Amino acid sequence: MNKFKSFLVNLCRTLLAITFIFSGFVKSIDPLGTQYKIGDYLEALNLAGKVPEWIQLITSIGLSAIEFTLGVLILLAIQRRLVSKLTVFFMVCMTAVTLWLTIGNPIQDCGCFGDAIRLSNSMTFGKNVVLLTASIVVMKWPLYQVRFISKTNQWIATYFTIVFIVVASVLSLYHLPIFDFRPYFIGQNIKKGMEIPKDAKPTVYKNTFICVKDGVQKEFDEKNFPYDDSTWVFIDSKQEIVEQGYEPPIHDFSITNEETGEDLTEAILTKKNYTFLLISPFFEVAEDGNFGEIDYIYEYAKEHGYDFYGLSASTDYGVKHWRDVTGAEYPIYTTDGTTLKTVIRSNPGLLLLYQGTIINKWSHNDLPTAEELNAPLNLLSIGHEPEDSTWSKIFAIVLCYILPLILLIVADRIWAWTQWVKKREQWLKEKEQWLVKKEQSNKLYQLLKRKRQMRKKIVAGNWKMNETLQEGIALATEINDALKADKPNCDVVICTPFIHLASVANVLDKELVGLGAENCADKEKGAYTGEVSAAMVKSTGAEYVILGHSERRQYYGETAEILKEKVQLALANGLKVIFCCGESLEEREANKQNEVVKAELEGSVFNLSAEEWKNIILAYEPIWAIGTGKTATSDQAEEMLAYIRSIVADKFGKEIAAETSILYGGSCNAKNADELFSKPNIDGGLIGGASLKAADFKAIIDAWKK
Ligand code: PGA
Repeated sequence: MNKFKSFLVNLCRTLLAITFIFSGFVKSIDPLGTQYKIGDYLEALNLAGKVPEWIQLITSIGLSAIEFTLGVLILLAIQRRLVSKLTVFFMVCMTAVTLWLTIGNPIQDCGCFGDAIRLSNSMTFGKNVVLLTASIVVMKWPLYQVRFISKTNQWIATYFTIVFIVVASVLSLYHLPIFDFRPYFIGQNIKKGMEIPKDAKPTVYKNTFICVKDGVQKEFDEKNFPYDDSTWVFIDSKQEIVEQGYEPPIHDFSITNEETGEDLTEAILTKKNYTFLLISPFFEVAEDGNFGEIDYIYEYAKEHGYDFYGLSASTDYGVKHWRDVTGAEYPIYTTDGTTLKTVIRSNPGLLLLYQGTIINKWSHNDLPTAEELNAPLNLLSIGHEPEDSTWSKIFAIVLCYILPLILLIVADRIWAWTQWVKKREQWLKEKEQWLVKKEQSNKLYQLLKRKRQMRKKIVAGNWKMNETLQEGIALATEINDALKADKPNCDVVICTPFIHLASVANVLDKELVGLGAENCADKEKGAYTGEVSAAMVKSTGAEYVILGHSERRQYYGETAEILKEKVQLALANGLKVIFCCGESLEEREANKQNEVVKAELEGSVFNLSAEEWKNIILAYEPIWAIGTGKTATSDQAEEMLAYIRSIVADKFGKEIAAETSILYGGSCNAKNADELFSKPNIDGGLIGGASLKAADFKAIIDAWKK
């Protein structure tokens, strides 16, 4: 479907481009012809004489240049969206105008293609409907137009085109149109151009006569005309073409001597020698600056026995004015003004005939000079029809416009190609870098994953102040048996009150379940009634001790300094420390959790050596989640544990941080353990309430199996 759309759009765009370029060009190189056509339209709109001629001329040059430039922009697919909209706008206007021509017939020839191609009004309307449809197709999918020139260099082609077409217009105006599409081209024999072949079909006309009687107007044709009733007074007549017959290329050329009424057409066109015709549709508005050259040519003609006439549709006043201003002595005859405008696009212009054939044409700006006219015409090149110069003109256009444009397009394509190569190289480089990075990050990820796998996964129970000795032994036995029957995938520790330690140690299989205390003294030994030292804990067979629990900090006033001492003593006595940290609800609400946790760690454990650190397990326990049933969400917990790991990394390095087990504690239970333990930084849990039932505790331990 897309291929079809692209084909359709590019087909329509080519049709539009060729039509616009051709019609714009043929009008541009004949600015006066286009101006006359604009004059016809103004007349049809009853605006004749209301718009100054210079405005008509500028409009003629401007409109043709716009049409040509639009064609080139479409061809090269420049500013695709904007240009396609402008094209539709242009075609809507043109179609409306030609619809008016088809319906009202106010003008015979629309002038779309200047004098190059003449279309009937209905044909031109049909043509515009096709072009309007094509322009709508292009506007619908403008981006399907294949570009010939990259965006960056489009302006060069655009400005170059505008300059070219305006210069071509101005040159055609100053000299004569580069191509002459009218029937009065060089080489045309005017008399032959007027001939109608014997077997040609004549045009059939219908004449209507308008008469009036007693104030009543009536139309008659030839048959019912009231020849016998003289009370009808004839006032006007109309002629309509019923059937168009053969029309010779030249059908309106005549030369009349106004003074004698004599028709000189035949006499002048059959002259055996050269004839100069100075053509001026209206002397009143003719350019009179070159009258010296004209007079010289007249003198030259007289001297060599050639005829020299002026042809004009001017009034007597206009002719007199011309004679007064230029001193013209040559005879001036009358020819239809429109015909004269068609003969030569210069006022005045000079025509050289030889036996009725147009040998040469000059604008008043290019009249032959005295140096050129230094011999009889038959000995001069200007006295002979020039070789057909169509190809040299086409060559000039190719050289001045098409070739530079093609060179620009080629240069642009090469430039675009080098840009593409550069971009591709850059892209390949970036891709390579990206792949290397990806591989590196993959490696890093693998490393972190390995480390995570290497880090110990721990589920530790904290019985707090619960269970009598007998109950404790029973619970420990139950847990031990359950794990014996179904081996855990992680380290399991139970931390009990001091009095349970020795007895519980006896019932636990050390390979399956580790034993820990919930506290130890900050003094080595001595007169500290009620205290239990780290050494004593160790002597029961326990290997772990919980320190820094929020309940100890809160209810027993354990400060960072006290805890620092306890940690030192525990480690010195070969115990592993489960060190707790965590913020209160107010601190979290004030968004101070990171600050609080960091201070707790810095205050009690960040002073340790890397070697000592190996026996530290961290447990993050937000105070607001302990024993409240409110768990931190897995994301909140993960975020904090990742932060703790980052500050451990800052302190001890990434390797050690990756090896440190960090647990989460606070309402962790069989239901939420899976979710919590699935987070990359959570290495297990410190379980309070849920560790007091063997089944619940076992279910949490089993979360590591999922
Ligand atoms: P909890 O206690 O699981 O009952 O919330 C945890 C702890 O204080 O270690």
